[in-house]
Amino acid sequence: MKNSQNITWHHTSVSKKERHVRNEHKSCVLWFTGLSGSGKSTLANSVDYALFQEGYRSYVLDGDNIRHGLNRDLSFRPADRKENIRRIGEVAKLFVDSGLIVSSAFISPFREDRELVRQMFEDGEFVEVFVECPIQVCENRDPKGLYKKARKGEIPDFTGISSPYETPILPEVVIETDIMTIAQSVEIIIKYLKDKKIL
Ligand code: ADX
Repeated sequence: MKNSQNITWHHTSVSKKERHVRNEHKSCVLWFTGLSGSGKSTLANSVDYALFQEGYRSYVLDGDNIRHGLNRDLSFRPADRKENIRRIGEVAKLFVDSGLIVSSAFISPFREDRELVRQMFEDGEFVEVFVECPIQVCENRDPKGLYKKARKGEIPDFTGISSPYETPILPEVVIETDIMTIAQSVEIIIKYLKDKKIL
């Protein structure tokens, strides 16, 4: 028996549409995906800051932070990464439903897992942002010293080294962080949101 069998879905009195009208902008998730050290968190936070400064309602969901709380029971084995991404997808959906522009920063290395999240959303609400950066550059940056440890065999299932990263096939936005500045990248993303009439 499914755990959700005796639970009914309660419809909310305030609709997402009404929240959009109140906020004067639509909501969506900017799903940043890429290798560790590619710049996902930096970009997500920079976009969030820019949106906040311009008066939009936004929020950041970040891999390292979520893994300290909600998902602290999960490892980096493929099945646990799948569950990590599924839960984040559900959380992001709640935030989008509440009218916010959510910037989520998770490696989310598997295409299938990202597609499952995409399917949770209405058309146009899931914006996949591929944070593209050669692994050599990520490894040189190594902001947390994790690549060094992974190369020594001290971290199992490390993305890009002992666990795969499947690049997005048709992402809505691609940001090459080895050649673009943060300001340029933020501008591209904000322009995308404006072009799509989300802002
Ligand atoms: S995901 O693959 O499940 O999407 P997530 O984004 O939540 O990963 O967490 C990645 C962060 O966890 C990395 O930025 C890094 O700091 C840390 N980390 C610890 N172990 C690993 C590992 N084996 N592979 C990748 N990242 C790891």
